[in-house]
Amino acid sequence: MTLNIKFAAKPTKDTDTVIIGVYADNNLSTASDALNVDTANLIESFLGKQESFKGKSGQIITAPVLDEGKTRILLVGLGDPDKIDGSAAETVGGKLYVALKSIGSKSAAFILGDDEEPENISTADMGAHIAMGVRLRGYSFLKYKTLDAEDESPELGTFTIAGKDNKKSAKTYEPLGHVAAGMLWARDLVNEPPNMLYPESFAKMIKDELKPLGVEVEIFDEKKLEKLGFKAQLAVGMGSARTPRTVVMRWNGKAASKKKSQPLAFVGKGVTFDTGGINIKPSGGMEDMKLDMGGAAAVVGLMKSLALRNAKADVVGIVGLVENMPSDRAYRPSDVIGSYSGKTIEVLNTDAEGRLVLADCLTYVQRKYDPALVVDLATLTGAMMIALGHEYCGTFVNDNDLWENMESASKSTGEKLWRMPLDAAFKKEMVSSIADVKSLGNGRYAGACTAAGFLEHFIEDNRPWAHMDIAGTAWVKSDSAICPKPGTGFGVRVLDKMIADHYEGK
Ligand code: BES
Ligand code: MN
Ligand code: ZN
Repeated sequence: MTLNIKFAAKPTKDTDTVIIGVYADNNLSTASDALNVDTANLIESFLGKQESFKGKSGQIITAPVLDEGKTRILLVGLGDPDKIDGSAAETVGGKLYVALKSIGSKSAAFILGDDEEPENISTADMGAHIAMGVRLRGYSFLKYKTLDAEDESPELGTFTIAGKDNKKSAKTYEPLGHVAAGMLWARDLVNEPPNMLYPESFAKMIKDELKPLGVEVEIFDEKKLEKLGFKAQLAVGMGSARTPRTVVMRWNGKAASKKKSQPLAFVGKGVTFDTGGINIKPSGGMEDMKLDMGGAAAVVGLMKSLALRNAKADVVGIVGLVENMPSDRAYRPSDVIGSYSGKTIEVLNTDAEGRLVLADCLTYVQRKYDPALVVDLATLTGAMMIALGHEYCGTFVNDNDLWENMESASKSTGEKLWRMPLDAAFKKEMVSSIADVKSLGNGRYAGACTAAGFLEHFIEDNRPWAHMDIAGTAWVKSDSAICPKPGTGFGVRVLDKMIADHYEGK
């Protein structure tokens, strides 16, 4: 069942749980429209008797019931009115979802207070972000479950933001809802098992989803890739019976102005399963490697968000889809392979496959579309996870303006980016003695940086470029405030926001 997010002046008739916000120090956010004076007084006096509930952000308590027991009241802490912002409100929404699910609510309504406006966000916008938190945390991936779990409570069917400012909330929610749709699709794709999602099936899923939304979708099969010369991506795919695909997507949102513009390009690593190949990975944890297409999932999720909100930007997305398998046909460590760029590559470890796939897609998109900038997303290195964990996405950028735009989008969406160094030394380290470049650095240190140094060999004409290593942020090992494990859809939101704030209408 999908969760319905609604905006209305009053809680709908079927509401079983009314939610009221409480600022720090139990300062009730009253809503005269929705709460009569008696009820407000009742809650005030109830709050006055609480020892441990202090209105801390995300704290939740149930209060005496309304309507002779038909409607529950949940009081939720909003924290200090000076501190709450969009991200904090989403966390509150996420916690609310978990509480509502555990008490078995089917229809809940959050009442917009009409007295105190927080410092950094309007009450109406706070409501929109609470709804976003509910939507993101309320995601689940249950398509392969056929048995009803005994202890499952019913799904929350409706979440309403109620109050006189509900229309303002709805307006703020509109673009958030579109970006949520892109993120949740990206999560679905990451969560799909690799026997279901492999290059051919993934390409079809992309086409089926995006074409009806007005995105042009082109699929290159193995033959076409051979003709075009995607030699590095094909080398990675040689070991698998599931042949590679590359998918190119175009969203022409500026078309009206007719003026030919340089599009923005987004490139995603889509390794549908990474065994490591001949340099096979150890057994423990290998099951996590279904997430190795998280970069591709983010790119296609972004295309979906852009199309849904009819973004006024020209964007090209490209994802290299391939399965990395060991077999008698697989590529080997020490192989020298070609690439779309013409550069030769010495393969030193078949588990460093993502950079090979990206290299071909990066060159192709630059030469074919002459983009104004290129951003790639890839679950590229374990080293990135060691450095920044699941919290931050290490971002390598060769252009300060581009970085500023990414950083401001990061701050306003809560998808955290941390700038990492691109340095001539890392690039130089990737020069090979037998071929033009080699796929591994000299030792095991700075593995995320040498990977970026390798990619830099495939950036042409000093084009503004960012490489986002999402190895840690594409997935989580345990549920977080606004995301159940594992797939997160990371990248969709920050890039959608960057485009909206900095590249539309220009
Ligand atoms: N897909 C992995 C990186 C990865 C590891 C992503 C853990 C998410 C979680 C990548 O293809 C890989 O295997 N990288 C190697 C590179 C090494 C051989 C230079 C790594 O990080 O060990
Ligand atoms: Mn690998
Ligand atoms: Zn990989």
